[in-house]
Amino acid sequence: MKLLLNSNGENSRPTTKDILNDVISSQSSIFSCRKKLELDYVPSFLPHREDKIKELGIVFKDILNDGYIRSIRTVVMGKTGTGKTATTSAFENEFKKIANERGSKVEIVHVNCHKQRTLYLISLEIANRLRLPVPTRGLSSQEIFKIIHDYLEKRNMHLILTLDEFNQFIDTAPQEEIYFLARIYDEISATTKRISYIFIVNDPYSLYRLDKSIKDHIVQRVIEFSPYSSNELFDILKARTEEAFVKGAILDDALRFISDIYGQDKGGSGNARAAIETLVVAGEIAEKQGAFMVTVEHAKEANGSVNPEVPQILDNLVDADLHQLLIIKALIQLVKRNRNEEVQMGTLENEYQKLCIDFGEEPRKHTQIYENIRRLRQYGVLNTRQSGKGMRGRTTLISFTLPLDSKFEDFVNSQIRGRMSSR
Ligand SMILES: Nc1ncnc2c1ncn2[C@@H]1O[C@H](COP(=O)(O)OP(=O)(O)O)[C@@H](O)[C@H]1O
Ligand SMILES: [Mg+2]
Repeated sequence: MKLLLNSNGENSRPTTKDILNDVISSQSSIFSCRKKLELDYVPSFLPHREDKIKELGIVFKDILNDGYIRSIRTVVMGKTGTGKTATTSAFENEFKKIANERGSKVEIVHVNCHKQRTLYLISLEIANRLRLPVPTRGLSSQEIFKIIHDYLEKRNMHLILTLDEFNQFIDTAPQEEIYFLARIYDEISATTKRISYIFIVNDPYSLYRLDKSIKDHIVQRVIEFSPYSSNELFDILKARTEEAFVKGAILDDALRFISDIYGQDKGGSGNARAAIETLVVAGEIAEKQGAFMVTVEHAKEANGSVNPEVPQILDNLVDADLHQLLIIKALIQLVKRNRNEEVQMGTLENEYQKLCIDFGEEPRKHTQIYENIRRLRQYGVLNTRQSGKGMRGRTTLISFTLPLDSKFEDFVNSQIRGRMSSR
């Protein structure tokens, strides 16, 4: 703790007030706008989701035609963190603006079925958002929907209702309520159909289970969001840091490290939310240490504390065989000796062979070593990437996904001892 002038102007131990004032008024050297990394913030750019925005536009553009009478439905499907909520929200904001500029009255209401768990709560939420007064007692949800529809009719308006986390609703709501939503125009009579839907789900199974009489009214088209690859996550993190980080306050290598952990092609979940969370924690760690830049070290430490998969990774290692563990030990030694996060394939192979001799083991052949590294990558313990230009030829670079602390080292050594003694 540095010595501060306290509120009396004396040079002594800082008071609580001094400490807090110092923290509150100091500017972050890392974040320029933390707010923009929060979950409900809709970023201005959504790299790699341009096609999805286009698809949504194609599906819904007919609503803007005068006298349009159909009710459009689309399912948006993809795993957690693939950008479903962010992309539909961005679409909704802009589509509504464009519609209004063209003189079409379009309202869009985005409901999260995790929060609004019943048809009744959904109907109240819509009424609320349309600023439509409804008595809070005595009306059924069906009646409230009728009031909403009459309101849309009177104003010649179309409503796009986005039901986010819709599988929650399918799993918990009574069949009649799902039926009502899906077949709303069998339930309320209307000359013009004024309500269209975006159903957001994170797995197809809840839809499969639906009765055909309901399913056909929900699953008319499906827009699929696939898990992000490592390169896609890199572009996403880059775009997000440009909005929320001080210029130059994060190294591309750190972004690359995080992208490689979560990229689906690298055995990760392809989840942008987890990647962004790791990014934020890495920024906080750098900030706490008084660094001016987020490095791979910070990202690694962040991963150790954020990644829910870490205990799982260690669990996986319990199944690793002796030679896989020797590869890990070789990598530990090299990283420590060279003070370099990444190690070239050939260097690792040499170190592993030396270790084998120390342990009286016959080293495995090149293809087997490669296979073992691939397996360790699947366990989530290693990252691999191809070296870029600047190095002679192209080679595979290998690094740990976890911080290399003594606990990890002890764990690996004890596993190796266990394998040796059981021979
Ligand atoms: N293509 C993208 N570009 C920028 N940020 C993204 C992108 N995709 C997802 N995100 C961000 O990742 C987080 C998770 O995305 P979200 O839309 O909530 O995923 P889902 O709804 O599919 O679970 C959010 O903070 C979101 O802003
Ligand atoms: Mg979502």
